[in-house]
Parts: sequence; C-alpha cells; structure tokens
Amino acid sequence: MPTVADIRTHGPDDPPLTFLTAYDAPTAAALEEAGIDIILVGDSVGNTMLGYDSTLPVTVDEIASHTGAVVRATDESLVIADMPFMSYGADVDEAIQHCGRMLKEEGAQAIKHESGPHTVELTERLVDNGIPVMAHLGLNPQRVNETGDLTRRATDAEEAAQILELAKQHEAAGAFSLLLEHIPANVAKIIDEELDIPTIGIGAGPHVSGQGLIITDVLGMGDWVPPFAKQYADVQSEMEKGIEGFKREVRNEEYPAEDHYVEESVEGFE
Ligand code: KIV
Repeated sequence: MPTVADIRTHGPDDPPLTFLTAYDAPTAAALEEAGIDIILVGDSVGNTMLGYDSTLPVTVDEIASHTGAVVRATDESLVIADMPFMSYGADVDEAIQHCGRMLKEEGAQAIKHESGPHTVELTERLVDNGIPVMAHLGLNPQRVNETGDLTRRATDAEEAAQILELAKQHEAAGAFSLLLEHIPANVAKIIDEELDIPTIGIGAGPHVSGQGLIITDVLGMGDWVPPFAKQYADVQSEMEKGIEGFKREVRNEEYPAEDHYVEESVEGFE
C-alpha cells in the first residue's frame, strides 16, 4: 500500500491511483483487501451515514470516531481524515490541534481540508508539524451556503484561474496531493500538468493522477448520485432482500429453525 511519500512522488507513468471513502470498519477492511490506494474518512459521512442534510453539521468528534474505526480495520492502508466545517480555517492553532488529533489519537496518516486562500498558511504549519495535507479544490461542499448548490465549478476562466493559483499555492505550502472535485476535464488536465504533486479527480475527467468516488455511490446505497459517479454494485437491493427474508421467515415461524437454537436442561430451572 502506498505511503504519503509514495503518493507525493507518483508520476505520469505510474498506474492511476484509486481513492474511495469509508466510514466504518467492515467497509475499510474490504477496501484494503481490494488494494485501494487511499481511503478517505470523508465528511460525506454526514449525509451518507449520519442522516444530516449536508456535511456542515459533522463534528470533529464524529470524524475522529469514524477515522478510528477505519484505522482499526486496516493494517497498511493510507487513511486520510477529512476535516469538518469550522474545525480549521478560523484559528490556525486550534486547527492544528484538531488535525493533529486525527493522527495522534486515531491513527490517520494525513488530513484533507476543503481549501481556499485561508488554508495556505495552515497547510504550511500542518506540514511543519508533521501532518501531511491533501488539499481539495473545485467543488467544496462545505461552501454550499455561499455557492447555493453542488454543481460543477471552474466553468469560467476566472474561477479556473483561481483554482489553478490556489493549487500552486497549496503545493508550495507542502500539500502532498490535490483532490479536484467536479470541474471540467480540460481544466483538470491543465492543473495536473502545472503541478508536480498528484491530482485525484472526483468528477474531473481522465487527465488526472487518480480517480476517487464516494463509497455509497459505488455500492448503490444512496438516494442521490452525482452525475459523474458510477454505480458498480446494488447493495441497497441486497439489504432489502436480506431484511425482507428475515421478516418473512419470522412471520412464517421458519426462523429460528432447529439448527439456530439449543434446548438443554438447566439444573434448578425446570
Ligand atoms: O467527504 C468526502 O467524501 C469528500 C469527497 C469529495 C471525496 O470530500
């Protein structure tokens, strides 16, 4: 499995990197078994697992708890903790404490933040403190109240140029990789070519160093799927099948069958 140092030196001739989210131990174990390069404990846990309408309510304690579960289920995967809204960016010293906790207490190897002008200095300070950083530009779901929606970004030259500039600033500040979310493929290609660090695309086309998706979209477990995602399995219908099967057999008194229980005499309790 790659380390942060391996990812940083990923080159154009290396195979594309694979990146998926996980929020729990069994899923993380399956990703490690499959040899996925990078596991992100995304703040998407908020809408995919915790029943929130957006990622904004996710807390540092929640990300810490899910990060711990993912780390305990993996031996050598590169696990990145995704810093939740308002846990970084306002106060650098407080942010370093929150980010450091993910490595020190939960065992993550790196953190990711949704990046902007306010995270350049923070990235430098984190890296100085031994906390590797993945930057995240393009669509930043934590900005939904400012942008009004979760649609494609960098659709005009000004925004594309801003993203490129921020990408360069985060690379110079020491970020080991850059996640590019939901931007045109031709914009992602230029950003990738301008950087030495690898770019992971989620909805950013093929001209990047690796591809990422949210695990529930891959497995077919979500209500809403972004336009760039691809579903590779239908876990939702398998769950429904299992739950229906249990209910039917209980109602029909087929479960538990003889091999699911014992009857034995318990002295003094006859
Ligand atoms: O929280 C998340 O799942 C993300 C995705 C863009 C990968 O940040």
